Amino acid sequence: MSPQSKADPRSPSEPFWLKGHFAPVANEVTAHELPVEGELPQGLAGTYVRNGPNPKDGVSPHWWFGDGMVHGIHLTGGKARWYRNRYVRTAKFTGTALGPTAPGEDAGAVRARRLRGGGTSNTHVTEHGGRILSMVEAALPMELDRELSTVGAFDFGGAVDTPMTAHPKRCPLTGELHFFGYQVVRPYLTYYIADAGGRVISKREIEVEGASYMHDFAITERYAVFFDSPARMTRDWSAGMPFDWSDSHPARIGVVPRQGGKVRWFDVEPGQLGHTANAFERAGTLVLEGIRSARFEAAPPYLYRWEIDLESGHTRERQLDGRPVEFPRIDGRRNGQPHRYTYVIEMLDFADGVPGGARLRRYDSETDTSLAQELGPGQIPGECVFVPKSAQSPEDGGWLLSLVCDSKRDISELVVLDAGNFGAAPVARVRLPQRVPFGIHGSWVTVADERAAPPAGRLPRR
Ligand SMILES: [Fe+2]
Repeated sequence: MSPQSKADPRSPSEPFWLKGHFAPVANEVTAHELPVEGELPQGLAGTYVRNGPNPKDGVSPHWWFGDGMVHGIHLTGGKARWYRNRYVRTAKFTGTALGPTAPGEDAGAVRARRLRGGGTSNTHVTEHGGRILSMVEAALPMELDRELSTVGAFDFGGAVDTPMTAHPKRCPLTGELHFFGYQVVRPYLTYYIADAGGRVISKREIEVEGASYMHDFAITERYAVFFDSPARMTRDWSAGMPFDWSDSHPARIGVVPRQGGKVRWFDVEPGQLGHTANAFERAGTLVLEGIRSARFEAAPPYLYRWEIDLESGHTRERQLDGRPVEFPRIDGRRNGQPHRYTYVIEMLDFADGVPGGARLRRYDSETDTSLAQELGPGQIPGECVFVPKSAQSPEDGGWLLSLVCDSKRDISELVVLDAGNFGAAPVARVRLPQRVPFGIHGSWVTVADERAAPPAGRLPRR
């Protein structure tokens, strides 16, 4: 990590993540009864929570290294009841527990301390077993309460002793949460399954020759799917970006039986998987759909599909579209099963590897077409989150929520789209009391007041 000065983040010489619609905000704000343009659906009851980097000192050496800040908008009864933004109180944020090695402290103890420190906790947020978890792949998740205040590091009652990915996958058939952790020391890759209540029921080391950059993975009905890439992890996260690209290391997809059994690896064209949209099995073929770039941190990324014949081992792969896209999301009820619709952010006007604008796009795998969502000049949408209208509604029977930054007016809105009428004007726009920096991932959270999490696995508030 190179030393940084407290320069003006709006300066033209500042990197993209410190200026414009990425620029951090200074204050934690609470606001009630937010103005709404249009009509919020009556049945939309819960909290949209989105995570992203927001360096507390106003500077960070990389977009990924800013302190995590969650933004929440609580909707119920056709009203936008509140907005809150809160820093995730990690040890890095509070300045505790990350100091130099204490006399007599061994390397394992230092790693455990950093693990519980929460890293930057700036990447994603999810809800499972009555808990809201803020996540970054370098450390344990941090538990948040329903008003987004930090409770503390969460280790699943002591069952998780590695970092946890920021992209766990919930199986809609079992309610289980599948996740993994990767790190520079053994075990390099650990695969966990927690039951619907949050109890870890399976923990397995996946044998690999060292760790690689493994930001995301996927599940199908029978398998977990990992992508081992040439971006090799050569050190821990404490000294900046820890990956070195190795042309001698193949890219390969690992297919791991969920119920236990032998791991199979399939070589694919060298490249880097960013995010997965989904994976599923169809007629003996395992299909993985996700975002691929030629190398680690290379732009532009494209929607891509890998197909593996599980009997013959034959693999096929292809780019699905020529438009650069990222942040793929689907209806979560289709996780691990064939899906029709994939929602992405299409990146526009690339300059020096950074997009100057963006719009939402929906891919339809049944008709092999895609459709853009035009929100208006200067409107920069974030990742879409799909909320079904009811448990029985079809795959496009839901609402799409996206935090949109209006770069001309320097404001942000929560935009609600009807997924079944994609491309039409939003059904509602909730005006937020401050601009929300362009961030990373979010979720729809419905943890109710009375479902307060039990104390097991909870660490004291820092
Ligand atoms: Fe991600």
